[in-house]
Amino acid sequence: MHIWKVAEVERCFRVKCFGYQIIMFWCAFVVFFLALGNELHLSHATEVSVNNTENKLCLYANLMVNFSVTYEVGVNKSETVLFVLPENVTTEGSICNNTTSTLKLGFGDGHSWAVEFTKDNKTYQVDSIVFTYNLNDSRVFTNSTSNETKSVTAKPRITNVGVDTYYSCKSENVQRVESVTQTLYDVTLQAFVTNGSKSDTDTVCTADLTSTTVAPTTTVTTTAAPTSTPTPTLPTPTTGNYSIAPDFNSTACLMATFGLRIGFKQGDKVETINLVPSATEVGGACGVNSSILILTSDTITIMFTFSNDSKKFHLHALNVTVKPATGVAVVAANTNMSIWVAAVGSSYMCNREQTLTVTETLTLYTFKLRVQPFGVEKGEFATAVECFMDSDLSFLVPIAVGVALCFLIILVLISYLIGRRKSRTGYQSV
Ligand SMILES: *[C@@H]1O[C@H](CO)[C@@H](O)[C@H](O)[C@H]1NC(C)=O
Ligand SMILES: *[C@@H]1O[C@H](CO)[C@@H](O)[C@H](O)[C@H]1NC(C)=O
Ligand SMILES: *[C@@H]1O[C@H](CO)[C@@H](O)[C@H](O)[C@H]1NC(C)=O
Ligand SMILES: *[C@@H]1O[C@H](CO)[C@@H](O)[C@H](O)[C@H]1NC(C)=O
Ligand SMILES: *[C@@H]1O[C@H](CO)[C@@H](O)[C@H](O)[C@H]1NC(C)=O
Ligand SMILES: *[C@@H]1O[C@H](CO)[C@@H](O)[C@H](O)[C@H]1NC(C)=O
Ligand SMILES: *[C@@H]1O[C@H](CO)[C@@H](O)[C@H](O)[C@H]1NC(C)=O
Ligand SMILES: *[C@@H]1O[C@H](CO)[C@@H](O)[C@H](O)[C@H]1NC(C)=O
Repeated sequence: MHIWKVAEVERCFRVKCFGYQIIMFWCAFVVFFLALGNELHLSHATEVSVNNTENKLCLYANLMVNFSVTYEVGVNKSETVLFVLPENVTTEGSICNNTTSTLKLGFGDGHSWAVEFTKDNKTYQVDSIVFTYNLNDSRVFTNSTSNETKSVTAKPRITNVGVDTYYSCKSENVQRVESVTQTLYDVTLQAFVTNGSKSDTDTVCTADLTSTTVAPTTTVTTTAAPTSTPTPTLPTPTTGNYSIAPDFNSTACLMATFGLRIGFKQGDKVETINLVPSATEVGGACGVNSSILILTSDTITIMFTFSNDSKKFHLHALNVTVKPATGVAVVAANTNMSIWVAAVGSSYMCNREQTLTVTETLTLYTFKLRVQPFGVEKGEFATAVECFMDSDLSFLVPIAVGVALCFLIILVLISYLIGRRKSRTGYQSV
């Protein structure tokens, strides 16, 4: 009787341990795959290889592209959507010839991104990039009034790439055409591949070469040196706190905090400038149906017009004037925007960098943005509606759920085993 009891306890113990092991493995598995899935989702480089008719590698690409597309959603109303070139693309329609090649990447519901290459004796170049997007794809272009497929042709400066070398450019290459902004970065591209294998030698873009050496000197000389080459990478703009009160004795009726960078065209070149909050004057007015925020510095004047359409507010118009130290002033206005949407009485927030294409010649970049143009109480922001980009943090949710589920199962198992043991000891003591 006594011996049997020990064996029973031992067996029970072994079963219990085995059960734990299975569950632990299972949990580790689930958490690992959830994490892995998200990791893959976050690093979205697109890598493709195209073979020629002899089944030898002739085109190779590994790159990232971000798109910002503004499209109509109603009469004089437009919306801007941001998305990235997905990892999974098709290469149908890609062609490799002796002196011309096309890398065509198809994705989603009828969208494509095609790079045209030409070659002369010793070098090759990109002639154009044709981005085709299908406004009928309502998952991307929600509420689009058009169902057309549109194309824009960009002409990036990717030239003089040595034959049998690959083009390499980590820096951002921003292409704005009509209502589309494409940002290419971390680019590796090789066309006219010889011998069926990717080259080991690269042709590095000029942006990558300069950005490593310029940084320390430009910070000192930005205001003094008017003829310096385009600043390759500006530091992230300082976040400014701006507010408007109806009169001196009242608390704020409009509040905004953000860092602001402006990119504007000077001829063919794109220059960028940061708004310096400490050298900026704040003006504007609060209204019932519309509120205005005006920021003025030496070089930048920017007017934000917000609309209250009874339940929700949005940024309705932007009027930006940039007067660079040298070169011509750029004035850009867009009076049919419909972004930064949130309920009246709440605020809109976007911590990530946001790109707003005001016109073809001028683009705004906002950082750590939070605005509330209506219904501010006690000088404090109300709860915030967060932009889509910020919600990337939601990748933590499935992991948290997985972990919680595992703990729950372990808890149930433990209580079951304890319960069983108790009932057995109870039975034996009788
Ligand atoms: C591209 O978009 C992704 C996600 O939307 C973002 O994390 C990344 O910072 C963007 N990169 C550039 C260069 O705009
Ligand atoms: C749309 O814009 C045009 C030109 O700016 C203007 O004439 C027209 O009245 C506007 N329509 C509406 C409904 O606001
Ligand atoms: C915005 O309105 C202007 C005229 O005021 C018009 O030319 C432009 O096409 C509109 N843009 C969009 C995206 O609706
Ligand atoms: C596109 O829209 C037009 C009218 O706006 C309509 O006549 C046509 O049938 C639509 N086509 C598709 C494929 O939905
Ligand atoms: C503002 O406050 C000052 C003193 O703090 C007071 O004299 C003045 O009347 C107030 N103005 C208004 C419009 O309330
Ligand atoms: C605000 O808009 C509503 C409806 O569009 C209108 O009735 C009201 O008079 C407007 N108020 C002001 C101050 O313009
Ligand atoms: C927004 O507009 C609605 C109606 O146009 C008005 O009743 C409400 O008071 C406005 N909200 C604010 C905060 O001005
Ligand atoms: C934008 O501001 C400039 C300068 O203040 C002004 O001349 C222009 O008319 C404004 N444009 C719009 C559309 O409000």
